[in-house]
Amino acid sequence: MEAVHAKPGPIERISVRNLSVDYHGIVALHDVSLQVQASSLCGLVGMNGAGKSTLFKALMGFVRPSCGSIVIDGLPLRQARRSQAVAYVPQMESVDWNFPVNVGNVVMMGRYGGMNLLRIPRPRDHRAVRKSLERVDLWSLRDRQIGELSGGQRKRAFLARALAQGASVLLLDEPFAGVDIRTEKLMIQLFEQFRAEGRTLLISTHDFSHVRGFCDQVVLINKTVMAYGDTSEVFTEENLARTFSTIPPHDLALPVEDEVWLGEA
Ligand SMILES: Nc1ncnc2c1ncn2[C@@H]1O[C@H](COP(=O)(O)OP(=O)(O)OP(=O)(O)O)[C@@H](O)[C@H]1O
Ligand SMILES: [Mg+2]
Repeated sequence: MEAVHAKPGPIERISVRNLSVDYHGIVALHDVSLQVQASSLCGLVGMNGAGKSTLFKALMGFVRPSCGSIVIDGLPLRQARRSQAVAYVPQMESVDWNFPVNVGNVVMMGRYGGMNLLRIPRPRDHRAVRKSLERVDLWSLRDRQIGELSGGQRKRAFLARALAQGASVLLLDEPFAGVDIRTEKLMIQLFEQFRAEGRTLLISTHDFSHVRGFCDQVVLINKTVMAYGDTSEVFTEENLARTFSTIPPHDLALPVEDEVWLGEA
């Protein structure tokens, strides 16, 4: 099965080439290549375990690829991270909510990269935090402990942190999971504003209506990229069927292990 690849866009904000990641020898991503253009809302779609969160973690440098390269905003990953070009809103299950920190401080963390080692916020850092919290409608909850927020409020707090950072690339892992319709609408409006500001968003979602509704590009993934490109061309029944079939193509090519006898001789 051939992956359907779009032509590279005029300005690539995210460029991944031949990326593979394994966890203790078990393949999570295999030979992933994709480009996401500037000013784009790009959906990331695949079944549970398809490697979506692993791709985000690789794009943040949290997992070490076994091979491949990542370029963000024209910079190798390490430099892109240093220049605060990329921000990440994790899948909420992977966050420690007992961490004793209030909402305002969570958002201020987005400013740390631009501060000196003492991390004393300057007036412009306070202004950026306030503006970000206002944009996600959370300013009134700035003094609450993060663990005391509802699920949807927590997501908005992390979004505000990404905003305060001023990143041009936002990686959002299932931002809509468990949020109510009002928050969902607020988020979609925000995402569209981010695109208008020239930012690039990669958004994983299990809701196909989001992809059809507001994503201009989409990546279909099943350990490897099954198809990617403009939503209108790529988000087809046929490509979805290929993506959601249980056996990714490269697994078929893996060598079969020798049979091992574990019983008593
Ligand atoms: N830390 C880890 N150690 C070992 N295996 C892992 C680890 N994290 C993920 N995996 C495995 O890697 C594969 C991809 O997981 P990943 O979390 O990237 O999937 P996903 O597409 O985000 O799924 P979901 O839709 O459920 O969030 C899965 O088989 C998972 O069990
Ligand atoms: Mg995930």
